[in-house]
Amino acid sequence: MYVELKNGVNMPVIGLGTSLVEGQDCVLNIKQALQLGYRHIDTASAYKNEKSIGSAIKKSNIPREEIFITSKVWKDSMGYENTIKSFNKSLEDLELEYIDLFLIHWPRNNDKNLNIETWKALETLYKEKKVRAIGLSNFLKHHLEIILENCEIEPMVDQIEFHPGLTRKETLDFCKQKNIIVEAWAPLGKGKMLQNEDLLRIAQKYNKSVAQICIKWCLQNGVIPLPKSTNLNRMKENKEVFDFTIEPEDMEFINNMKFFAGSDMDPNKS
Ligand code: A2P
Repeated sequence: MYVELKNGVNMPVIGLGTSLVEGQDCVLNIKQALQLGYRHIDTASAYKNEKSIGSAIKKSNIPREEIFITSKVWKDSMGYENTIKSFNKSLEDLELEYIDLFLIHWPRNNDKNLNIETWKALETLYKEKKVRAIGLSNFLKHHLEIILENCEIEPMVDQIEFHPGLTRKETLDFCKQKNIIVEAWAPLGKGKMLQNEDLLRIAQKYNKSVAQICIKWCLQNGVIPLPKSTNLNRMKENKEVFDFTIEPEDMEFINNMKFFAGSDMDPNKS
């Protein structure tokens, strides 16, 4: 199943997050994910696993065009020239001829010009057809507004931390209005959602796991989840979310949950 980005590119609706998985563990993780049918892999230069991902993809013999790969430029490589260099290094490490989606990993809060210059590099890569789509990560509404005011090509995606208790409503609503697809990193709150009593109660009602509820809740909110797992059974479980629908009252309940776990960041700060 796919979502269509504003430039017509189709992106699979569940991606595999890969941060903190490196080396041979990563090669095995990607190999198993591809065997299970995952076709959307989310990485970043900062994850230091692009070589492992590239090697697993190559060994899989799956046609390149069937796999959707995202990477990101890290904070220390921002600016026009550095971004192009960082992109080329990602491309080389992944052993690919193009990347499907390339993102600015984090905004610089105090340097809007650096965000704009970096965006211009992404526009160049897009025009040169080295990427099929470009976007942002961890950009909140006020960061996005500056890019939109200064861009030639509008971002197609914004990837933010998103899970029960952290819905970033203002940013989500803004993205919907601008037809920017939101992706969720840590859709399971880094695994810290899973013992929550309210979510356990809802999961029981649908005969599903809390992880499956979190993933389906993202999808029903129009958000593309990127759950991370290095465990075969859990990777499988995280894809089995298309045989049930969360009822509106449960969606509303989860949408209104207060922040209780997830990243160590204060969600109320930018
Ligand atoms: P593991 O790799 O052992 O499966 P997030 O995607 O929010 O960052 O969460 C990732 C964490 O959640 C990882 O620690 C992962 O551990 C765990 N996890 C992923 N899928 C499941 C699942 N279906 N059930 C329980 N834990 C899960």
